[in-house]
Amino acid sequence: MAIDTISWQGDHVRMIDQTRLPNERVDIEIRTVPQMVEAIKTLRIRGAPAIGIAAAMGLVAALRPHLDDEDGFRERLGEYADELAAARPTAVNLSWAVERMKEVARRHPDMAAAALWERLEQEALAIFEEDRRMCRRIGEAARGVIRDRAGILTHCNAGGLATSGYGTALACAYVAHEDGKRVRVFADETRPLMQGSRLTAWELMESGVDVTLICDDMTAATMAKGEIDLVIVGADRIAANGDTANKIGTYGVAILAREHGIPFYVAAPRTTFDFSLPDGSRIPIEERDPAEVTHGFGAATAPAGVKVYSPAFDVTPARYITGFLTDAGLLEPPYAESLPVLRDPVAS
Ligand code: MRU
Repeated sequence: MAIDTISWQGDHVRMIDQTRLPNERVDIEIRTVPQMVEAIKTLRIRGAPAIGIAAAMGLVAALRPHLDDEDGFRERLGEYADELAAARPTAVNLSWAVERMKEVARRHPDMAAAALWERLEQEALAIFEEDRRMCRRIGEAARGVIRDRAGILTHCNAGGLATSGYGTALACAYVAHEDGKRVRVFADETRPLMQGSRLTAWELMESGVDVTLICDDMTAATMAKGEIDLVIVGADRIAANGDTANKIGTYGVAILAREHGIPFYVAAPRTTFDFSLPDGSRIPIEERDPAEVTHGFGAATAPAGVKVYSPAFDVTPARYITGFLTDAGLLEPPYAESLPVLRDPVAS
């Protein structure tokens, strides 16, 4: 499923405005850091790998007008990189991608601005291409855990719209579908911003994969009815011990899966693992505007002035996770032994 979520246009970034889906497909053009920061904060572009790619490309676009400014180019680079990295806190792919761009400048301390800009452009494109390859490998890693006619539950959107390629959790369904397996995907709608119903249902229908939409509060009943054979979700940041931050509600799905004896997998590329954090307790969790809960998509659904708590992500303890579907294959417990293979750079 090639959706063309984000692409580099030589001097600007083009991306699908995901806030407009599923009603209309509108592409937007990004040339400046404020434009990209706004797009990331408002979820025009979202999903851990996609916001890393967007920040890298956005940095290159924003630096283009400064090619003749030999004195100021590196200073701009540092300022812009910091603003982009601060746009959202939880997905480590964002700070990882920005840091990788800064490292290019550090490796070439004497390079002229125009030549350095070209190196940065190459690096952003390399991040994009590597993500595409990793998505494919993640999908292939799931071959052994998805049988014909499997019912797969997913939460939020970890598909093509969240990456440069097939997605992570949805890559598993796409590869199974290509292999001729008649998989049935159940998409949690994912309150409050509905990434499951607006985005996951949309992209699976576009690609001809069987999808059934359920409200978040129908998950337990759907499992109890025997419809779900396995759960596959994406991730925003995974600590060294396997504790996993993903879209709010994921932790509840993991507990329900355990209760029903259903395997629970996390699909993610190595760029989502943060080995600097020993466990999930120190993963920063973004809190969102209360209006997303009280006035989701327009109408008021709560009394004016009500107190709201709106974390965008939660942390699923590693003990609930059956395995990680990664670009290095399926990694199973004990995670202290299996996960360190992901510390190496991406293989070409
Ligand atoms: O707030 P969002 O829509 O950016 O949250 C996205 C998720 O939680 C995804 O599951 C995660 O980023 C993995 S995307 C491959």
